[in-house]
Amino acid sequence: MAKAKHFDVRDLKLAEGGRRRILWADHDMPVLAAVRKRFEKEKPLAGRRMSACLHVTAETANLVRTLQAGGADLVLCASNPLSTQDDVAASLVRDFGIKTYAIKGEDRRTYYRHIAAACEHRPSVTMDDGADLVNALHKEFRAFAGGIVASMEETTTGVIRLRAMAAAGVLKFPVIAVNDAATKHLFDNRYGTGQSTLDGIIRATDRLLAGTTVVVVGYGWCGRGVSSRANGAGANVIVCEVNPIRALEAAMDGFRVMPANQAARIGDLFITVTGDIHVIDGPHFRAMKDGAIVCNSGHFDVELNLQALAKLARKINRGVRNGVDEYVLAGGKRIFVLAQGRLVNLACAEGHPASVMDMSFATQALSTEYAIAQAGKLAVTVHDVPPAIDQWVARLKLASMGIRIDTLTAEQQKYLSSFEMGT
Ligand code: ADE
Repeated sequence: MAKAKHFDVRDLKLAEGGRRRILWADHDMPVLAAVRKRFEKEKPLAGRRMSACLHVTAETANLVRTLQAGGADLVLCASNPLSTQDDVAASLVRDFGIKTYAIKGEDRRTYYRHIAAACEHRPSVTMDDGADLVNALHKEFRAFAGGIVASMEETTTGVIRLRAMAAAGVLKFPVIAVNDAATKHLFDNRYGTGQSTLDGIIRATDRLLAGTTVVVVGYGWCGRGVSSRANGAGANVIVCEVNPIRALEAAMDGFRVMPANQAARIGDLFITVTGDIHVIDGPHFRAMKDGAIVCNSGHFDVELNLQALAKLARKINRGVRNGVDEYVLAGGKRIFVLAQGRLVNLACAEGHPASVMDMSFATQALSTEYAIAQAGKLAVTVHDVPPAIDQWVARLKLASMGIRIDTLTAEQQKYLSSFEMGT
């Protein structure tokens, strides 16, 4: 009988380029490499069937190598139809023996077929970036949910969804909110998204940022990062934000703050990072200048209302450059949409640099080890990453950067825990 094929990738012939990029990324992932080295010896994930639904990048390859080194029997599928690096997916299959289901540009059916393959692996541990795998395990594949010990979640959008499920009492297994660890969101969401979003925009458009009016919609950690990096590149940054505290922070960080309908008339380049739906909608598109560029760096492709834009358009010219669609409106006004409204940093560039994913993915691997050690003891809700993991990752990252820090003296420690001493 023919052996079943345990992968679905674009072309195994791409593997050599992928292998080189995986090893290149590995140089910048020393914390994850330290975890891998220990996992090789201790095998804390031995005998565990695991499914991971992640952006299939060189950095993710180094994470799954680590989980495999820990003894996990792993299936990897894409967490976004446009974020897969086909050469990496090929190398994961050919060089690392990882069952990988991911093709850049896969259609909706293929995307969900790949998620189905991850469910049919019958994992006892899962890892998600956006909660699509957990979602499938609560719907079509709910029969397999009972066997799950815990699931790790990588992104803000996923954590929001999972907390909503826990609040509604429908969550079926414990979740660890890796996104909420300090070593994840303070660095990945801020510096990672800050750099990779601009990288995607520049690769797609080759536009000069200096002197460009950039409208950043959303001032969470991602929005803070994007605004700061755009400012550093000489852009005039405008921030749109619904939360008054964040809006105030943006204003005091030196940015102009205004409602989206006002910013729509002024901006040259619009970047959404809110995690919410239709934050740029029909009226905003109608108000924009000729030649405005619009993109999204939030997890799902819902932030730009492209259906409304399509209705306004007389003509859509797809692929006027790689990853750029031109919408021509009545009167000849053009609006350029990048990456079909999907994550511009992963669709038009390579996602966050390895050095920052090092911390996110070391935290993922250590949280997985923790979840397995706690199997059966974690309540069915959304848990924080244990602070000891965060501290360890931060200390090792500092050491890898050649940075030493002071420690408190006994006197200072005592002072911090006392209340007697005053003026
Ligand atoms: N999310 C953002 N950047 C990423 C990367 N390089 N790899 C995996 N997931 C990511």
